[in-house]
Amino acid sequence: MSQGFETRAIHAGQEPDPTTGAVVPPIYQVSTYKQDGVGGLRGGYEYSRSGNPTRTALEECLAAIEGGSRGLAFASGLAAEDTLLRTILRPGDHAVIPDDAYGGTYRLFSRVQQPWGIEHTSAALSDVSAVAAAIRPGKTKVVWVETPTNPLLNIADIAALADVAHAAGALLVVDNTFASPYLQQPLALGADVVVHSTTKYLGGHSDVVGGALVVADADLAEQLAYHQNAMGAVAGPFDSWLVLRGIKTLGVRLERHCDNAEKVVALLQSHPSVSTVLYPGLPEHPGHDIAARQMSRFGGMVSFRVVGGVQAALDVCSRTKLFTLGESLGGVESLIEHPGRMTHASVAGSPLEVPDDLVRLSVGIETCADLLADLAAALS
Ligand SMILES: Cc1ncc(COP(=O)(O)O)c(C=O)c1O
Repeated sequence: MSQGFETRAIHAGQEPDPTTGAVVPPIYQVSTYKQDGVGGLRGGYEYSRSGNPTRTALEECLAAIEGGSRGLAFASGLAAEDTLLRTILRPGDHAVIPDDAYGGTYRLFSRVQQPWGIEHTSAALSDVSAVAAAIRPGKTKVVWVETPTNPLLNIADIAALADVAHAAGALLVVDNTFASPYLQQPLALGADVVVHSTTKYLGGHSDVVGGALVVADADLAEQLAYHQNAMGAVAGPFDSWLVLRGIKTLGVRLERHCDNAEKVVALLQSHPSVSTVLYPGLPEHPGHDIAARQMSRFGGMVSFRVVGGVQAALDVCSRTKLFTLGESLGGVESLIEHPGRMTHASVAGSPLEVPDDLVRLSVGIETCADLLADLAAALS
């Protein structure tokens, strides 16, 4: 019988050290390895860009918790994305991307990939027929999915989009950063590649920047591993160790993130200064039924629009004390931000521009009453 999620998160890739019995994998802070005669590698390790035991432990753990055959760890989420795109796309190819993609992903497609001849079309991924219409037969090689999206928390139907992508001969890539593998398992729903900014829930403590790819198909895994080494944007040993440590508590952290987020949503919904609450757990959210099907709970990210426009939104962001004003998400501490001026400033003026009265919360795992009091004070 396959092991449960938390067991894999705590043990996969992490046998006690054979020499000392240390129960936690050491940080192999090393660039090169002694060979027992030319080519006599111990455990396959020759140089730490190509492989490092701490990174291997993380990569095996990532594969185990996403249900893939192989995980690959990178220096950042965008390094993982770049390596993936340069592995699977060639000049003349086309990608369909979310019309509210993470700003950095949009920038990668529009400012980095496009000059090299990779075209993209943005589509509302909550509308399967819009995605089908955006596909260019013979040219579209990737359908890129985020669900829930950042920062609008829209929901895409992973299984339905996998069918659409595969019928067109394209790969379905799912950025699972917002949900994490604890809440959502895209490979089991038909995705070909899972992408992570491990900076977020997997690391979980706002102390590391990292990225990951997880795949099921062995050939694709080989190609990606080749490019990981050839391009070199690997996760370092200490960063790998931090992410590995974070993953051990992913399940318990996510339960608390979800508990707190639900209470924050209830407060926001009843507050006269809030015009709209965006959270897939709300029955009136247009993606609620799909989210309920493909996620075990609805996550720790909450966005809302305030009455009074951009200035009111900026005021809320500057008044909270416990919710720290800052970019990023998924750490134990609560964060607040104004996407239009912060994380999504790079999409201003593009079709992906976000409303300027929008505020995004990454609800942390502090005592919930303190979080609610902080928000109530900032809103009034
Ligand atoms: C959904 C999503 N994907 C990818 C990234 C990029 O990851 P990184 O900042 O680790 O490069 C982010 C960063 O915020 C993100 O939110």
